[in-house]
Amino acid sequence: MSGIAERWAAVDGYIEALFTPPEAAFTKALEDSAAASLPDIHISPNEGKLLYLLAKLSGAKRILEIGLLGGYSALWLSQALPSDGQLITLEIELKHAEVARKNFVRAGVSDKVEIRVGPALQGLERLVQEHAAPFDLVFIDADKCAYPAYLDWALKLTHSGSLILADNVVRDGTVAQAEKGDEAVEAIKLFNRKLAEDPRLEATLLPLLRDSLDGLALARVK
Ligand code: DHB
Ligand code: MG
Repeated sequence: MSGIAERWAAVDGYIEALFTPPEAAFTKALEDSAAASLPDIHISPNEGKLLYLLAKLSGAKRILEIGLLGGYSALWLSQALPSDGQLITLEIELKHAEVARKNFVRAGVSDKVEIRVGPALQGLERLVQEHAAPFDLVFIDADKCAYPAYLDWALKLTHSGSLILADNVVRDGTVAQAEKGDEAVEAIKLFNRKLAEDPRLEATLLPLLRDSLDGLALARVK
């Protein structure tokens, strides 16, 4: 690691120690996810706290998550909801959903969280078909190649003032390289360009560094 990366990692640890002291609901969620051999690709505690604060600041009562995994990010988001709030989360893998469900029960948020198992694009189409009430916040974190399509659906499922967030929009800095990247990188580049150019949105990207360089997209629906 270069000097700057080491310093940044140290600062990330410093922020984590100060602002996200370990809580059983969160640490056990990660332990159980690892024990069930889920991929180790959950958001960091600092990114979780950021999602929590953004959800609270925006006063979100209805949250849609695309990509549940073991439920770590959904724990952060659901804890930001008022008691009558709801989080709907889409997950393709039944095994992930089962791990996450136990994590929600342990954290006491299961009455606020609805897990829908299946391909996210089908879940999104179903939400539109059933005329789901618009979501105040959408967090995108599933199949990177489908990010541009997720954004199209998110725009159908939100209202003026809604917040659209997306994980992994910097991809180790590859999005900033002119040469063609792999399919996922090219999809994220297209997603970022759509965020920048869609007249219905005002947006930016927030680079985040932990083990590698990545980032969170923040967009507000005009
Ligand atoms: C991957 C997916 C993620 O959502 C993430 O945060 C990191 C990595 C992946 O599929 O490799
Ligand atoms: Mg992610």
